Amino acid sequence: MMDLLPQVDRSRLPRHIAIIMDGNGRWARERGEDRVYGHYEGVVSVREIVDACGELGVEYLTLYAFSAENWNRPKAEVDALMELLVNTIRKEVDDLKKNNVKLHVIGDFASLPEVCQKEMTEAMQLTGMNTGLNLVLALSYSARQELLMAARKIAEMAVSGVLAPADIDETVFQRCLDTATFPDPELMIRTSGENRISNFLLYQLAYAELYFTPVHWPDFRKQNLYEALLDYQRRERRFGKTSEQIQKNIIPDA
Ligand code: FPP
Repeated sequence: MMDLLPQVDRSRLPRHIAIIMDGNGRWARERGEDRVYGHYEGVVSVREIVDACGELGVEYLTLYAFSAENWNRPKAEVDALMELLVNTIRKEVDDLKKNNVKLHVIGDFASLPEVCQKEMTEAMQLTGMNTGLNLVLALSYSARQELLMAARKIAEMAVSGVLAPADIDETVFQRCLDTATFPDPELMIRTSGENRISNFLLYQLAYAELYFTPVHWPDFRKQNLYEALLDYQRRERRFGKTSEQIQKNIIPDA
């Protein structure tokens, strides 16, 4: 395969890439293996993509590692996934530290097993001073739940009188989300041929370019990421403006 990296325009990279890592189970089944084997191999892809994003200078990478709906999977698989998460973070935290990666977690943190909470908290503390790639793991995450929690916080502020309903704007709302301090993703990648958002970052993806690939997550490596970036760079981001306005750089009402 030709190396696509030289074709990537480093001056037009997304600041934030979000990924739905799908297809681990199918990848394993196609090889006559247990689904969990696919998750193990998926971790190798995680390492490669984190590495690639760090090298490129992408500022934020959000990975959908465990959805709130994933709790409904067979207990053995849930347990294996939690164990894999804990072991991977334990094993990788030194490298994350060395590579200037700062770890964050979004989602229903309190619903995670205690050992997982402890490992994540420690890793977040150990990498807290890092200034390179922000690696955001979505764990027990549901966008609808995140939006409901934001609505609750806002209602509480309104009831207690610190916020007037008329002052609720996008900035106020955005600050009540788990992603309060992050920019919105400009690119969302989903692997394994499923063309859905599946309750992932519903508010934040409003203007994101969506990239779907049939490649299963365990096969998604650096060159696949570069391919997605090249596709992204070929698109024109209009934000509701006309093509003419973008080409002539016309700013409305200016
Ligand atoms: C989707 O494949 C994948 C998951 C639900 C888990 C993804 C998690 C990892 C790759 C491990 C994460 C580790 C770190 C450190 C971030 P699927 O099981 O839904 O596959 P299928 O659609 O083929 O069944």
